[in-house]
Amino acid sequence: MDEMLNIALPKGRLGDRVYEIFERAGYACPELGDPGRRLVFEAKDSGVRYFFVKPSDVAIYVERGAADIGVAGKDILLEYRPEVYELLDLGVGRCRMCVCGRPGFIDDPSSVLRVATKFVRIARDYYAGLSRSIDIIHLNGSIELAPLLGLSDVIVDIVETGVTLRENGLAPLAEVCGISARLIANRVSCKFKYDAVTELTERLKNVLEDKG
Ligand code: PRP
Repeated sequence: MDEMLNIALPKGRLGDRVYEIFERAGYACPELGDPGRRLVFEAKDSGVRYFFVKPSDVAIYVERGAADIGVAGKDILLEYRPEVYELLDLGVGRCRMCVCGRPGFIDDPSSVLRVATKFVRIARDYYAGLSRSIDIIHLNGSIELAPLLGLSDVIVDIVETGVTLRENGLAPLAEVCGISARLIANRVSCKFKYDAVTELTERLKNVLEDKG
């Protein structure tokens, strides 16, 4: 049996920040100093193997057991509801899921609201909670264009600094939920690699508390 812990980290800036936390928790990987174009990095001394994948793919690797552990945004967990355990809020990658539109937009409850988004389930759940009937327009990117071109009335999207909205003449109208990066684990790995998963979680928790 493979005793190493396989860890899927999100590629990019968030992954770099997350790796720093793992490093401080004692899971340093010297091979990452010279990554080249490799995708898999082993840290035999720490008993972990890292691989970097597209942020929205992390949960799939973990759900299917290709990774024991991963770090995924709460947005992905809410949208796709993968069957994984959520172990820790890592407190990085903080942003907000918001309804956004033209400043001062007033919703007319007598008509169906047209909502453009990448996050179809999150948007549906949010408006279902408000008993508001909507027409979902599923887009894959550049969501801010939709209200500008009259494709939708509002969007449901991630707001981090707010710059994208501002530069496109839009504003947040309501907050749907807060988002941050979460430590997730494969359900079977939590049983069969219980000690390693528990130790990793505890050590990460200590680092986050130190930061306090
Ligand atoms: C997200 C989101 C916004 C932007 C918000 O896109 O869809 O467009 O970030 O960030 P800001 O508030 O700091 O301007 P992302 O960069 O994830 O790219 P994507 O839409 O291509 O996934």
